[in-house]
Amino acid sequence: MLTLAIETSCDETALALYSVEKGVISSLILSQAKIHSKYGGVVPELSAREHVRNILYIFDSVLEESNFKENIDDIDFISFTLTPGLILSLVVGVAFAKAVGFALKKPIVPVHHLEGHIYSVFYERKVVYPFLSLIISGGHTELVLVKDFGDYEILGSTIDDAVGESFDKIARMLGYGYPGGPIIDKLAKGGKPSYKLPKPLVNDSSLNFSFSGLKTAVRTLLERNKNVIKEDLASSFQYTVTEILLEKTKRAVRETGVNRVAVVGGVSANSHIRQEFNRWAGEENIELLIPSPYMSTDNAIMIAIAGAERFKRGIYADYSINPEPNTPLDVFGKTWS
Ligand code: KG4
Ligand code: ZN
Repeated sequence: MLTLAIETSCDETALALYSVEKGVISSLILSQAKIHSKYGGVVPELSAREHVRNILYIFDSVLEESNFKENIDDIDFISFTLTPGLILSLVVGVAFAKAVGFALKKPIVPVHHLEGHIYSVFYERKVVYPFLSLIISGGHTELVLVKDFGDYEILGSTIDDAVGESFDKIARMLGYGYPGGPIIDKLAKGGKPSYKLPKPLVNDSSLNFSFSGLKTAVRTLLERNKNVIKEDLASSFQYTVTEILLEKTKRAVRETGVNRVAVVGGVSANSHIRQEFNRWAGEENIELLIPSPYMSTDNAIMIAIAGAERFKRGIYADYSINPEPNTPLDVFGKTWS
């Protein structure tokens, strides 16, 4: 079973050819990070324009890299991100999926971007349901109980900034470019967590997150103290974020009784978060699933894996489908199936 997968929800144009039996045949990601870096974040119009400029070229390259041009008809279905994301960027991927599907007369299979992140852990192993998924990315921070494919219970979400967004904003405050996560990660390696920062919502009884107070505390610290050691601040911020994420995940394990935990999304590439979750898992006998860093950040392989799960169940869309800017994971499918 072979799928062409398309991901254009934010600033990466990613395409993959993926076989359920053989794995990845070809996968390419064109990052726009350099273009957005000088603005300190993703500029939606620029992002859409870059997707339009690059998508055909990447499609061609994916086919060429795998010597697949002659065999294009072997593709069984097209998987693509329908939601959530920057609407103009989604439009490009959805239109492309429809065009290829229509030309090849193959079904088109929508995927929720967060579902893609959840299924990124299936790339390297088979996972048993149910499991908890902590999704930490640039746009989302969610704790989800995954009962089965398509059966997701959102246990908690951020009430303000997403965790990746806060990494990006702190990096910007420190004078660095976008994306800020890898920069903070690297900077923190040379520092100590010596600044005490707040952990909003950490002791409340919900599984929700809040990061905006933490961001404000960093800003205030930078305004008041001109001699801040950047490495120590990066380390303190990362340490505090990790504590918040761990505390809420531990609570979710206690409340659900599920001790199989996945940590996915771009921020799960963070070395300190990986280290501390691994430590906890070792101490408390948790089955921890963290994808390799290249599967943590946006890619089309994860969209292919989730698309294949949907296609196996005989679910696909018709060509009248339109991108949806922000459909929650737990109602995905009800709007179009
Ligand atoms: O999942 P992703 O690639 O895109 C979205 O769906 O948002 O996540 C991107 C986010 C960015 O905020 C980026 O700064 C963050 O993931 N990120 C990291 C690291 N690598 C990427 N955050 C912390 N540490 C990292 N090593
Ligand atoms: Zn993502």
